[in-house]
Amino acid sequence: MSKYHEVNREGWNKRTDSHYNHPGYHVKEFLEGKKKLHPLELEEMGDVAGKNLLHLQCHFGMDTLSWARLGAKVTGIDISDRSIEVADELKEKAGLKGRFIRTDLIDLPDVLDEQFDIVFTSWGVTWWMSDIKRWAKIAARYVKKGGFFYIAETHPVHCMLDGDKKIIEPYFNQGVEYYANETDYCSKDLILNDEYGWRWTLGDIVTALIEAGLTIEFLHEFPFSVYDAWPTMVKDGDWWYYPDGKKDVPLSFSIKARKL
Ligand SMILES: C[S@@+](CC[C@H](N)C(=O)[O-])C[C@H]1O[C@@H](n2cnc3c(N)ncnc32)[C@H](O)[C@@H]1O
Repeated sequence: MSKYHEVNREGWNKRTDSHYNHPGYHVKEFLEGKKKLHPLELEEMGDVAGKNLLHLQCHFGMDTLSWARLGAKVTGIDISDRSIEVADELKEKAGLKGRFIRTDLIDLPDVLDEQFDIVFTSWGVTWWMSDIKRWAKIAARYVKKGGFFYIAETHPVHCMLDGDKKIIEPYFNQGVEYYANETDYCSKDLILNDEYGWRWTLGDIVTALIEAGLTIEFLHEFPFSVYDAWPTMVKDGDWWYYPDGKKDVPLSFSIKARKL
């Protein structure tokens, strides 16, 4: 495991309970039987009933178990010990079936030797990957012939902009980036310790998936965010927008890529 990933593992152990108990994660609603997935993923993934589904970076498994509720046979993997413990507890509480594995994604081939109809990952995942080509190779390795990989993710342009759409961060990869004492994106009163991340352009991500042997079916870009990155952002339905109401910058994207 990369030493950077190991530091991030500690950070995710610290965040898990706070997320589980935060109203923004909607655990209560999930346990009442409501799905947690957005209409975007539901529509773009299509019918998952009867499919074998691998969820990469599943956090405490609520999305994974939402796919199980829709009839998929699910496996979720995550680096965080506490996330995987909580995922197993949530599975029992919800009365759902699924398998959760604690591992660094980069080490997944050491512990899982299967293939899946669908490999799914979403919202806040690529930043944590030190090697995007390796990430794509591992994702592709788990897709059965005829199956697909799907990602819904924060757009790299979103990560460049502040609350007034001014550019405050670079677009291109800068190697490893170090942050300390950042505020959590959800539990705003939770101060994090050290954290390492890597910014990947849309081109880095798409090219890595193509080089890993997948055929891109679509790349969609959206003017909405999955979270309130800035305090001025306004919520409309499922999504967050800049307060000027202009839908002029990409804040999210999704990709479906098939193994032919
Ligand atoms: C923003 S969360 C993803 C949230 C997810 N969309 C959900 O279902 O709630 C990022 C997740 O990536 C995991 N992660 C970070 N680095 C990882 C790595 N190297 N291998 C596997 N999981 C990792 C974290 O533990 C965390 O659960």
